[in-house]
Amino acid sequence: MPIDRLLDFSASIYPDGPSPRVIEAVSDALRSPRQLRQYPDLKSSDLRANLARYTTAPADNILVANGGVPLMSATLRAIRTRKCLLPVPAFGEYRRILEREKSEIRTYPLVPSANFRPDLHQLIGSCVEYGCDTLILNNPHNPSGVTVDASEIRWMITHADRHGIRVLLDEAFIDFVPEESVSADVPQSGNLIVFRSVSKFFAMAGLRVAYVIAPQHRVPAIASLLDPWSVSTLASQAAGAAVKDLRYISNTIRRNSEEREQLTRALTGIGLTVFPACANFLMLRFSIEHASENVWEQLILDHGIVLRNCETFEGLDGRYMRAAVRGRDDNQRLVHALASVLNRSVPNLRINS
Ligand SMILES: Cc1ncc(COP(=O)(O)O)c(C=O)c1O
Repeated sequence: MPIDRLLDFSASIYPDGPSPRVIEAVSDALRSPRQLRQYPDLKSSDLRANLARYTTAPADNILVANGGVPLMSATLRAIRTRKCLLPVPAFGEYRRILEREKSEIRTYPLVPSANFRPDLHQLIGSCVEYGCDTLILNNPHNPSGVTVDASEIRWMITHADRHGIRVLLDEAFIDFVPEESVSADVPQSGNLIVFRSVSKFFAMAGLRVAYVIAPQHRVPAIASLLDPWSVSTLASQAAGAAVKDLRYISNTIRRNSEEREQLTRALTGIGLTVFPACANFLMLRFSIEHASENVWEQLILDHGIVLRNCETFEGLDGRYMRAAVRGRDDNQRLVHALASVLNRSVPNLRINS
């Protein structure tokens, strides 16, 4: 099957984005030879001001770059991380960045019996036991979708501070549940650094814009380790337009939440284990027998549907797959395809429209 005919549930990017405002902003910038000739603003002042309004964190605490990886690398180097606690499974780049930055890594297993939810007491206890100076946490968590309440995250940050532990919190998917963000707490809490992105919620992964919100005293050191002009004029204007589009923001939150709930019900209805999630993807568990029958391959070959096979995530195996939450018709196609591959009869498969 040609690749452009596959239905991609493997990438967790909002399928109806980006906002028309983003397309307009890019088109306007492209029509201006002067803008294209010039270097972008070295400080990305307009973009940082827009991100400040969106997150309610001060612009002076925000730095931008062309992705989360350069921001996290610069931060780990700036704060001189020596030993880091990494809950696993986790976004694979964390380990690669930590290894490149020569940080020792200790892992903390997130387990299915707790729905992959970290025990925050234990997490800090493990940092103390192993002598970790840094903790990387991802909320909502990729790949499980688990989301810890902001109040619990706040408790953990204070507790971590008492032990001199810096918390690097990746909020790449928090825009789907903005009430659980602690971005605005950064200026008051010396040990919290938050990473955010416009790639997922605003569906702009190709334009490459991410940002970090760091305490004032950390900003110069992180900035000095970032490449200059890494965010282009086009990307900067597009991201600025995205975070100002309040209509896109509220519609996306509402639609994603409705579709996620419907999809969870439908997938549970055909007998799959679906882990409770708050972002735009669901982690599913198949039985051993189905994992070995290779549901993943069959979905592609027979139905043109691609899931994210989670066996490459540390601590997971071929029974786990991640499915993005797409629009109603696509989600329905996924449920029907899975029912057929698993050979399930599904009287309650119907999804309300
Ligand atoms: C948890 C998490 N954080 C960060 C990123 C990086 O996002 P970006 O560099 O596109 O901002 C990803 C990308 O998949 C991710 O899954």
